[in-house]
Amino acid sequence: MTAITLRRHLTDAGHDSDLIFLLEDIASACRSTAYEVRNGPLKGNLGVADSINVQGEDQKPLDIIANDIFVSTCANSPRLAALVSEEIEEVVWLKEPKKGDYMLFFDPLDGSSNLDTNLSVGTIFSIMQIEEDGNRNVLRRGADQLVAGYALYGPATMMVLAAGRGVQGFTLHQGTGIFRLTQPSMSIPETTNEFAINTARRRFWDQPIRDYVDDCLAGTEGPRGKDFNMRWVASMVAEVHRVLMRGGVFLYPLDDKNRAAGGRLRLLYEVAPMAKIIEAAGGAASTGTERILDLVPTEPHQRVATILGSREEVALLEQMHRKPAEA
Ligand code: F6P
Repeated sequence: MTAITLRRHLTDAGHDSDLIFLLEDIASACRSTAYEVRNGPLKGNLGVADSINVQGEDQKPLDIIANDIFVSTCANSPRLAALVSEEIEEVVWLKEPKKGDYMLFFDPLDGSSNLDTNLSVGTIFSIMQIEEDGNRNVLRRGADQLVAGYALYGPATMMVLAAGRGVQGFTLHQGTGIFRLTQPSMSIPETTNEFAINTARRRFWDQPIRDYVDDCLAGTEGPRGKDFNMRWVASMVAEVHRVLMRGGVFLYPLDDKNRAAGGRLRLLYEVAPMAKIIEAAGGAASTGTERILDLVPTEPHQRVATILGSREEVALLEQMHRKPAEA
């Protein structure tokens, strides 16, 4: 039996035809971005700003190329009112917003420092709806997301969607260009023995994060009573995808170096969509003290502390944050 296509899945799920239109535009933009990423080295474009290709021509960095692809592809959607992109300072308004119109939040190429070394990168996106005619408020809680998703440009190109019930994974068939459902109803194991954090920043961490990682590293002889593995790709999409596939916890906490900025990762188009996907797959997402999906953003490019993955680990990290700091 042939696998269900993305369009068939969205239609069977009973989504509004304008939403299907927009999701198909996003899928097209992901397909085009995957193509650009694959051919980047051949065009002399490894993602570095101001690079020059073999013909001696100036190259746009791939994250700008991906941004342009998303803007030009998705702007066609009849009910898309606004775009909020990591690559664009201001909110882009495409039409006078009407109640029910869509707003698209996206990071066109996340983890782009991995491009030079031919490692996995991805796109993260989120869709919300305008609450009232003329309402231009884009600073909405993650819990208001209608759809969250990402595309992973890895050995296979995949699109993972939380739209309606559960989380579904689709793989791009390279011959036909069709996304087919390959991971239906993805769910995260509750327990895990794998964590992901940039340990080079250990000296900047707060005590709860140090304690948590130290306990994991102590293995069978420590309080956790089991050995852990550590993984760090430095590409959030790849990291979250691994957590979805086999469990684990991903951390980019507040630390002494990023505290003034509010954290490292962006709330509206990186962390909130991933939090929706992780929760829909049975996991949890927190800053350490608050549920990510409850946060009300204060500005479109706000950053936030991030802890997400298997439910038990996130609960333990929240508990460690509640413990009074040791003298
Ligand atoms: O969005 C920024 C990002 O590239 C994420 O994809 C990734 O998780 C993180 O930065 C990597 O950070 P670091 O440079 O500390 O490894």
